[in-house]
Amino acid sequence: MKIGWFPGHMAKAKRQIAEALTTIDVVIEVLDARLPVSSANPLLQELRGAKPCIKVLNKQDLADSDVTKAWVRSFEREQGVRALPMEAKNRSQAMGLLKLCRRLAPNRGKPGKTLRALVVGIPNVGKSTLINTLAGKKMAKVGDRPAVTTCTQQIDLRNGIHLHDTPGLLWPDLDDQDGAFRLAASGAIGDNAIDHVTVATFVGNFLLEQYPTLFMTRFKFKQKPVDADAALEEVGRRRGCLVAGGEVDLQRAAEILLQEFQAGRIGLISLEAPPAAS
Ligand code: G4P
Repeated sequence: MKIGWFPGHMAKAKRQIAEALTTIDVVIEVLDARLPVSSANPLLQELRGAKPCIKVLNKQDLADSDVTKAWVRSFEREQGVRALPMEAKNRSQAMGLLKLCRRLAPNRGKPGKTLRALVVGIPNVGKSTLINTLAGKKMAKVGDRPAVTTCTQQIDLRNGIHLHDTPGLLWPDLDDQDGAFRLAASGAIGDNAIDHVTVATFVGNFLLEQYPTLFMTRFKFKQKPVDADAALEEVGRRRGCLVAGGEVDLQRAAEILLQEFQAGRIGLISLEAPPAAS
């Protein structure tokens, strides 16, 4: 599966972020807790240099909490990096993020010394939701399609902190095929750009290997399917996705598997783990 992004947009986002970084005290990098490596922009590390960085592991409410804890330990081994699991709509968790910003920039956030935090991340990881929670009102459009945040904006939180919002940092064509599948599975890639059956087969394989009990329980499988193809057929049968002649409508079955996975209905599942936890 080849996912094409737009090099023009990418170059512009890179320029805007490099420019914004010159005045920034803390970088808030929003990641999807279920896939914190695949949902990272590979350029950011290079762009942020030595600036303190908080990796927000957002959507923790959908992720496997043990794996999220392992990610926190793994990220915090990096120089200047703190990691914070988060559910973006949770106000007290969001306030914890501001506290951490103040700790990382102890001389800022005072009268005449505004603390400037830059919020970055690929589309659909929850940046707008987080900003709205921090601002206490709707500041940026929270949409259901990736790349919906298009304008740079500055938000005065009225507590000595200014948030700088950037357009979603688009990532270039992905060489890492599994990374692309994880992004598609998480819902980060527009529905029209993915082949549902291929992505659902990837998810089915992963669930059979890593979370077989959750998978089998959710779809009431009587026995463990031999492979992802058999699992998808069974999902279709269990959900009544049949066409004339009693065959399974695989497209429909794939859509259901992906919807249920993305909504967390199969269980709390992380799609990638740091080496020590896998
Ligand atoms: P973005 O600015 O980075 O592009 O992401 P955005 O905030 O638009 O969030 C993308 C989707 O992820 C939204 O769902 C949003 O509600 C959801 N989301 C954000 N943070 C969290 C979180 O911590 N946990 C969970 N479970 N979901 C989160 P949507 O269905 O596209 O929009 P909506 O129907 O919720 O408005």
